[in-house]
Amino acid sequence: MKAYDQRGFVFYTNTGSRKGRDIRENKSVALLFHWKSLKRQVRITGAAEQVDEEEADIYFASRSRGSQAGAWASKQSDHLQSRYSLEESIREFEKNFADKAIPRPPFWTGYRVVPREIEFWEEEDFRLHNRILYSLEGSVWSKSLLYP
Ligand SMILES: Cc1cc2nc3c(=O)[nH]c(=O)nc-3n(C[C@H](O)[C@H](O)[C@H](O)COP(=O)(O)O)c2cc1C
Repeated sequence: MKAYDQRGFVFYTNTGSRKGRDIRENKSVALLFHWKSLKRQVRITGAAEQVDEEEADIYFASRSRGSQAGAWASKQSDHLQSRYSLEESIREFEKNFADKAIPRPPFWTGYRVVPREIEFWEEEDFRLHNRILYSLEGSVWSKSLLYP
């Protein structure tokens, strides 16, 4: 997660990856943050919307050149013949963009998950965990408890 505000929670990815293709078909998604050692989890469900081009460009520009070239070179989640072919492709993009700013690839952007539900989970003994659910009804968040 790279950003959050009142509108939602933003992550970036390759739009051709499995999750990118899945979101194109169905924008209902969940984000899951599980901290085992802290015995806590937060699950957010809602709708994924692409961030606008400007927001994605600004974030992409903040990444290191290595990460920028890597974004161009990676066909995220496709089968890779060898590590060498990926490294070769990165070197090629670095050469092509030498002395220039690396633009954001057209297949790489951010998604904002606009939340409908946020569940806070706290581990308790005997599997009797605390589960606190916030749900959006219209423009009002309501709070309830769930059985563990
Ligand atoms: C610490 C960590 C951070 C990650 N950050 C991202 C990320 O920002 N964007 C992303 O697409 N994948 C990220 N990944 C990789 C994803 O878990 C996943 O392997 C990848 O997105 C491919 O999934 P997909 O083909 O279903 O889209 C991260 C993985 C780890 C372990």
